[in-house]
Amino acid sequence: MRTASVSDYRELARRRLPNIFFEYIDGGSYAETTLARNVADIEAIALRQRVMRDMSRLDMRVESLGQTFEMPVGLAPVGMAGMNARRGEVQAARAAAAAGIPFCLSSVSVCPIEEVAAAGTPPWFQLYVLKDRGFMRELLARAKAAGCPVLAFTVDLPTPGSRYRDIRSGFTGSSGLSGALNTAWDGITHPAWMWDVWVRGRPHTLGSVASVVTDSRRVTDYLSWIARNFDRSVTWKDLDWVREVWDGPIVVKGVLDVEDARDAVRAGAQGLIVSNHGGRQLDGVRSSISALPAIAQAVGSDLEVYMDGGIRSGLDVLKALALGARACFIGRAWAYALGAGGEAKIARMLATLRAELAVAMILTGCANLRDAGAELLDRAD
Ligand SMILES: Cc1cc2nc3c(=O)[nH]c(=O)nc-3n(C[C@H](O)[C@H](O)[C@H](O)COP(=O)(O)O)c2cc1C
Repeated sequence: MRTASVSDYRELARRRLPNIFFEYIDGGSYAETTLARNVADIEAIALRQRVMRDMSRLDMRVESLGQTFEMPVGLAPVGMAGMNARRGEVQAARAAAAAGIPFCLSSVSVCPIEEVAAAGTPPWFQLYVLKDRGFMRELLARAKAAGCPVLAFTVDLPTPGSRYRDIRSGFTGSSGLSGALNTAWDGITHPAWMWDVWVRGRPHTLGSVASVVTDSRRVTDYLSWIARNFDRSVTWKDLDWVREVWDGPIVVKGVLDVEDARDAVRAGAQGLIVSNHGGRQLDGVRSSISALPAIAQAVGSDLEVYMDGGIRSGLDVLKALALGARACFIGRAWAYALGAGGEAKIARMLATLRAELAVAMILTGCANLRDAGAELLDRAD
């Protein structure tokens, strides 16, 4: 199958991956209302076409938190990506480095921080809040030692939302013989994945946190570990001790409300990601793109405002920038591409996003992304 768009990588991933892993990427929480909103609300935004303005030179570069993004896109943290392709996080990190954009490593990745950093450019590191603060300090020290430049501190998962698809697929909650048989059949019926990931992609542990996830027999058991070990008592004060251990920039990931954005500024964050976890947490909340303008307006001059959720093309990237994001992050788009065929497919998908962004810039008359603003949007209707 030839791939033209993110939806094609999705289809390829659907064919190549065992059902439990495809559904894990593709799904959202509960009725998936917010997941759908993230995409639909971006689709509903109209770009404003402008013509006859010399567009022979385009500048897509963005400087942010001391880094140069060759285009205003980063790879968002995606847990267990190493189950989609052999040593998947390493492959994604390489593709991102080649494209000159950041890769943010999930704290529940298959490849540990050190393995990903050793493969080239140290990734941004994403951290969840765990009850065991001592272990969190250890993880932060490891990320620092590995050279990770930025910490993404995820605040929208003090407890996991329920994902119906994961229950139906057997990803969560299935155990015993029927669960094992179900998983085995899922693998056997996807031989390319079996050879790539099951045989050659070991070890299948949660690399960076494996030493504390001692009671999980399968990598997929980690959701129950999250439910037991993630910490609901977390407050903005926790950023104080994080800062004692982490002296680099901190980006708070998972802000949807202007008041929370102001709190993130007061807590000393250098950036935030407007995000609802890709519609995987509190279903029914607003889309990221609809939350973005007010947050960017309120705190955009105090810290870096990024967004994620529903970005499926380069045109979407420009819309997010027009509404105030410095850059956006993609989750499913790269996870599908990885599942479709590893690093090479992520590289191609990123090249597609870049080409689409170029067309959007040319036809809105935006030669330099530093100038992207609301005037790129057609709000007449
Ligand atoms: C399969 C999957 C796993 C994810 N795992 C994590 C994670 O480990 N940590 C985190 O902060 N966000 C995680 N997210 C959320 C993403 O970082 C991001 O917020 C979301 O995917 C953006 O929406 P999009 O998929 O529509 O681009 C995950 C998302 C997906 C789809």
